[in-house]
Amino acid sequence: MKKENGNRELKQQVGQAAARLVKNGMICGIGTGSTIAFFIEALGRRIREEGLNVNGVPTSYQSRLLCREYEVPIIAAEDCSELDLAVDGADEVDEDLNAIKGGGAAHTREKIIAAMARELVLIIDESKLVPRLGSTFPVPIEVIPAAVKYVTNIVIGLGGDPLLRMGVNKDGPVVTDNGQFIVDVRFSEEVDLRQIDRQLHCIPGVVETGLFLDLASQVLIGTGSGITVKTTQSGKKPILLKPDIEN
Ligand code: A5P
Repeated sequence: MKKENGNRELKQQVGQAAARLVKNGMICGIGTGSTIAFFIEALGRRIREEGLNVNGVPTSYQSRLLCREYEVPIIAAEDCSELDLAVDGADEVDEDLNAIKGGGAAHTREKIIAAMARELVLIIDESKLVPRLGSTFPVPIEVIPAAVKYVTNIVIGLGGDPLLRMGVNKDGPVVTDNGQFIVDVRFSEEVDLRQIDRQLHCIPGVVETGLFLDLASQVLIGTGSGITVKTTQSGKKPILLKPDIEN
């Protein structure tokens, strides 16, 4: 799905800048992708050179292997209920810091760490900034294989144009680290993606969507003339996924 878009130097620049946001003692969620690879490398360097004491929570086999390679200590997401920080790449980010993720098929675990973290920082090169989510990238949906026909049919009814993601150097569909399929869906610009996201979450067989709405508190953007930082007004994650429970 993902094209090798964007600029390697800009990705490296934001990866390194994000590594400087990590403080001693933190437990840090670590996303997936080529930009995050630079973050992991830079974090490993800080651990080695500054004796920084941090633990990473990786979101994929890719980020787990990179943490091992760059000697970033890791702990499993299932052993945490809250993270100090999460750092991740994105495929598209709009001006309200909403994002599309999942070009690398890792968005379900990425959304889990985003929700668990007190702050989610996205790191992108400037090619990922869009005026409207979905203008360059489809919305990836992770789907349980048994439900794939059912889900795609409903998605068509919602006005989407779904495509089962196929493997590269592997016959057949992409199988995620969770053992599921990915359906990439293009929606027309008239569609309200916030409403679509709620509807998608109601379909049996949908595991998670790549729409990251109201989750990021900060975006570091690598540009040809340095790094631009965008922050939500509060500077904090706008929503906490903690339901009010009334008895
Ligand atoms: C993984 O599924 C994705 O959400 C990535 O975080 C996203 O595709 C960004 O990847 P790059 O940094 O490789 O562009």
